[in-house]
Amino acid sequence: MTLRIGIAGTGWFGRMHAEKLAAMEDISVSAFCGTSLEKAETAAKPYRDARGYDSIEAMLEDSKLDAVYICTPPFAHGEIELALVERGIPFLVEKPIGVDEATPNRIRQAVREKGLLTSVGYHFRYMDSTNHAKELLANRTPLMALGQWMGSMPGVYWWRNMETSGGQFVEQTTHIVDLMRYLLGDVNEVYAAYGDRYMSSKEEGVTAPDVGTVTMKLASGAVATISNTCAIPAGGSAGLQIYTNTGVLQITGDALVDIETDQKTEYKASNNPYVRENEAFLHAVRTGDSSRILSTYEDAWETHRVTMAANESARTGLPVKLR
Ligand SMILES: NC(=O)c1ccc[n+]([C@@H]2O[C@H](COP(=O)([O-])OP(=O)(O)OC[C@H]3O[C@@H](n4cnc5c(N)ncnc54)[C@H](O)[C@@H]3O)[C@@H](O)[C@H]2O)c1
Repeated sequence: MTLRIGIAGTGWFGRMHAEKLAAMEDISVSAFCGTSLEKAETAAKPYRDARGYDSIEAMLEDSKLDAVYICTPPFAHGEIELALVERGIPFLVEKPIGVDEATPNRIRQAVREKGLLTSVGYHFRYMDSTNHAKELLANRTPLMALGQWMGSMPGVYWWRNMETSGGQFVEQTTHIVDLMRYLLGDVNEVYAAYGDRYMSSKEEGVTAPDVGTVTMKLASGAVATISNTCAIPAGGSAGLQIYTNTGVLQITGDALVDIETDQKTEYKASNNPYVRENEAFLHAVRTGDSSRILSTYEDAWETHRVTMAANESARTGLPVKLR
């Protein structure tokens, strides 16, 4: 049976997902919705059976869809998810799941009540190398972790504004927070310091802090810090280093490096994580077997709470307890 997929959001990542989906067997990219009909029709053009719509309601009224990918900016969550929950249509939503706690919490409760199938785009979880790190950690004692997302500021208009993106820790560095939670478990307490050093004087409309460091106590007793900046033009990096009783595991988007006494082993990240993420979600839509989905809405909510707590701590100057 061919699955009919709709895409909410006609920007970079909606198109990226559509291309990957169209290359899969028995998948039809059938509909796009965006903030204007023109943009949605332009996004739909490359796909034989696809149509464009100017709202989620119009798309769902007119197209019979088996699942929807939500690729809207962080502030544009709520209406789309709740419309899908109401109709019982499974969705894959890109991270972050919102810019506050109230909206994702409402969605989470609605998803839970309906028992709806969901997936969230934390793609680091779908890398072979991450999977291998998880296997290695099963026989080691994690002590502490250092993570980072260091780079320049993305160009999309909504990213620089704290209210529309949630800021770098919520929007981007959430990937590293989620990777840490996936490998090391839940976070009990968060303390954050953010700063505004350079970007707001260089570019118009920047309200997101451009540097930050977040210290966390984990439920296991391990401790971690994750830092980020969006103000460097060169020398960027993103990843997580986990210090254990046998040495260090270094994880990036490209590889896992396992450093032990007299031994350094590198595992290249060989698979495309977005493809595996799609396969896991669509297998679940087709069969009801959700066991391959590695990030559900309920789980992503826990990552979101950590990033929200970091924003709160940076604002108040006080640690925030999560559990
Ligand atoms: N997992 C990843 O590696 C990864 C990479 C890039 C982006 N993303 C995420 O994907 C999301 C989208 O990012 P992007 O780079 O495609 O942004 P973008 O600005 O290029 O595209 C967003 C699109 O959403 C549309 N939109 C805005 N409000 C809408 C609404 N209410 N209903 C329908 N459409 C609406 C906009 O018109 C635009 O077409 C972000 O949350 C981002 O973090 C994830």
